[in-house]
Amino acid sequence: MKEQFSFDIFSCEQMNEFGLTIASNVPNGTVIALVGDLGAGKTTLVRGVARGLNITEVVQSPTFNIMKLYLKGSRPLIHIDAYRLADINTDIGLDEYIGYETGITMIEWPHYIEDLLPENTLWIEIKSTGETSRHITVSSSDNKLVEAVK
Ligand SMILES: Nc1ncnc2c1ncn2[C@@H]1O[C@H](COP(=O)(O)OP(=O)(O)OP(=O)(O)O)[C@@H](O)[C@H]1O
Ligand SMILES: [Mg+2]
Repeated sequence: MKEQFSFDIFSCEQMNEFGLTIASNVPNGTVIALVGDLGAGKTTLVRGVARGLNITEVVQSPTFNIMKLYLKGSRPLIHIDAYRLADINTDIGLDEYIGYETGITMIEWPHYIEDLLPENTLWIEIKSTGETSRHITVSSSDNKLVEAVK
């Protein structure tokens, strides 16, 4: 059974704090699938994780690159935005980076590359409930991962 929990946040700063929690608590090799509509806050959460890893580069939406690797922090962060892969359905070698064993992989629009996701992916769903409020649901088949970010 999938372990899950949910909570509400009310500001970008709280999203950032959740990112810090993720950065300091998930093990290397963790794959995080970020589910949510346009503007839900997926990239904002990736920025929080980047900050937690002491990555000073500006994290932008990688929509035009599909993938961006940050190697200058305390451990590598791989940021993938699969949005533009929606209709392509082609193998661009992303699987080489997913679950990169010394870092954290965060994927926006994960459903477009669902076949590449490991079974123990940490799923984070972000639902907009107001201008700055968000309902967040965390789930995974790996209970330990879910507990790690609680
Ligand atoms: N609590 C919050 N958490 C995250 N973002 C918030 C919050 N409140 C307001 N925002 C705003 O919502 C927007 C979220 O944009 P962001 O780029 O993170 O979304 P996204 O889910 O990555 O969208 P896309 O699917 O287009 O990549 C930002 O403008 C941010 O300032
Ligand atoms: Mg984004």
